[in-house]
Amino acid sequence: MTEARVAPVLVTGATGRVGGEVVAGLLRSGVPVRALTRRPDGAVFPAAVDVFAGDFSVPESLDVALQGVRAVFLVWTESPATLQAVIERIASYASHVVFLSSPHQTPHPFFQQPNPMARLHADIERTIANSGLRSTIIRPGMFASGAKLWWADMIQRDGVVRWPYAAAETAPIDERDVAAVATQILRDETRAGGDYVLTGPESLSQAEQVAIIGECIGRAIRFEELTPDEFRNEIARTWPSLVVDMLLDAWGATIGHKSFVTNTVADVTGSPARTFREWVADNADAFRAPRPHAGAD
Ligand SMILES: NC(=O)c1ccc[n+]([C@@H]2O[C@H](COP(=O)([O-])OP(=O)(O)OC[C@H]3O[C@@H](n4cnc5c(N)ncnc54)[C@H](OP(=O)(O)O)[C@@H]3O)[C@@H](O)[C@H]2O)c1
Repeated sequence: MTEARVAPVLVTGATGRVGGEVVAGLLRSGVPVRALTRRPDGAVFPAAVDVFAGDFSVPESLDVALQGVRAVFLVWTESPATLQAVIERIASYASHVVFLSSPHQTPHPFFQQPNPMARLHADIERTIANSGLRSTIIRPGMFASGAKLWWADMIQRDGVVRWPYAAAETAPIDERDVAAVATQILRDETRAGGDYVLTGPESLSQAEQVAIIGECIGRAIRFEELTPDEFRNEIARTWPSLVVDMLLDAWGATIGHKSFVTNTVADVTGSPARTFREWVADNADAFRAPRPHAGAD
């Protein structure tokens, strides 16, 4: 085995939804893994993972973690202020970057609305392309875990989801499948250099997604459709307005269209993409009302 093949992969966003699964997937594949976090003391990783402190907003803080790596899994949730310096640093140590982007180039109305996240991702891709790094871009659509973030509290509380655009269709992708694609590309670099749009296996309206959650937890859940203004003023009033605008524009534009669906997860990993129902079944407790403690008043 050559030195290049045993050199480690640095996973950024390693405490996050996708990065955490990439760490686990690389470990299972026998690839040496380094995990980056701003707060190593608070992070929990398997013993075989080398954990490094690093912060994109302080580019030089990445140097120790980057020494000797062959590839980097890049998750960027920071402002772009230090982007150029971070990419230059990665390029000076590693030969390949796998970047977690989004399908902002896909000609479907859902992905073609004004969207600051899409602009940031396009900037990052340009910066990577200009750096000389070999790059692979993975572009998942809506994560299935959005359902937990958005609806779990309402479902737990009273079984009523108050939400706009019941008929808007998406193809939620299980984060484990996003990670499985990244892992496959990082462990066996024959697919490196590609551009992969990833979705879940089926187009489902938001109302259908809520109904699936109800079926999985054995509880009837009512979808009470809100107007965009009601949503903005009631449910999302504390959210960043950029995020609210982005979501409302995308859901509104997709009404009347099936979601964009690809077979890329299966093509790359050899296993079909998990369904939304599978994701819910594995996360069902998040939607169940907590049981009262025995003996509670
Ligand atoms: N949600 C969706 O539907 C969707 C769809 C397509 C693409 N995406 C993209 O997916 C990405 C988010 O992935 P995710 O959900 O797996 O992440 P996440 O769970 O939100 O976690 C964010 C990660 O970023 C790390 N991080 C934050 N600021 C950092 C900094 N200054 N320096 C170093 N690391 C930093 C955090 O690490 P520490 O806190 O440990 O330092 C954490 O591990 C975003 O770029 C988003 O645009 C999301």
